[in-house]
Amino acid sequence: MWREYHDEHVSVLVEEVLKHLVWKTDGVYVDCTVGEGGHAFSILSRFPGVQIVGIDRDEEVLEIARKKLEIFGKRCRLFKAEFSRIDELFHGLQLEKVDGFLLDLGVSTYQLMAKGRGFSFNRDEPLDMRIDLSQFKTAWYVVNTYPEEELERILREYGEEPFARRIARNIVAMRPINSTGQLVEAVVKAIPKKVRRKRHPATRTFQAIRIEVNDELKNLAKALEKLPDFLNTGGRIVVISFHSLEDRIVKRAFRDDKRLKIITKKVIKPSFEEVKENIRARSARMRVAERI
Ligand SMILES: C[S@@+](CC[C@H](N)C(=O)[O-])C[C@H]1O[C@@H](n2cnc3c(N)ncnc32)[C@H](O)[C@@H]1O
Repeated sequence: MWREYHDEHVSVLVEEVLKHLVWKTDGVYVDCTVGEGGHAFSILSRFPGVQIVGIDRDEEVLEIARKKLEIFGKRCRLFKAEFSRIDELFHGLQLEKVDGFLLDLGVSTYQLMAKGRGFSFNRDEPLDMRIDLSQFKTAWYVVNTYPEEELERILREYGEEPFARRIARNIVAMRPINSTGQLVEAVVKAIPKKVRRKRHPATRTFQAIRIEVNDELKNLAKALEKLPDFLNTGGRIVVISFHSLEDRIVKRAFRDDKRLKIITKKVIKPSFEEVKENIRARSARMRVAERI
């Protein structure tokens, strides 16, 4: 059997976030991926002078964050927003500059395990995978309407899937594919039996399709372009990514941006102890840059 996640989201690299993000103990910080509010809770508890604006694309997780963070009153304000559109949010809130941004990418354990969202290959559900439930594009749309070559490109680029061509061909042959279970079947049938994998054979395909459905890499690149303009001098951008594609975008954006100085010459990884406690942390990579 493949290992499953625990149901509750456990925030990763918490001490490292506190250390690198909060350089000013009465500052204002934006948690761009507030999720269930784990990092925000730690920041607000540790630094009583700090204020947080928390955003997320997913209204469902925001509800959880609202309950968890209500004890902090006016020190924490939460909004449904997309981090690549940070300029519109700041304009709406009449905010000019803040002292830091935190991006803890991907989806939370809550979202992965939530029934009916279609993120997990461990359950048979409708193909959805949208983080923002109000958007049009779903996993069903991608799987059933994209041309074979486009599916192959997505699986190869976003999933780094060596069997991209065979899987794409199988998906097209098996259409219509209406459930996560049928998608798993299409993947498993495409991978030769003798190929053994440590992770579930559908891991890469599900990752690739989720990235495409939610435009994850494009949104990350757009956000990194915009965020430095909204930082006070000395302000920090802390990004935690979970796969090499995201990490590469962050690394290059920090390296090429004249407005920023890199703080983490080497990427920060979780300790062995953290990974032992929280399997999701195993692929976490953190990079930090400062506004000059
Ligand atoms: C790993 S979780 C964050 C967990 C949170 N840091 C905690 O400790 O509880 C990532 C969150 O980012 C949100 N998200 C992903 N892409 C986003 C985007 N482009 N804009 C806003 N939120 C996004 C997801 O909905 C999810 O709740």
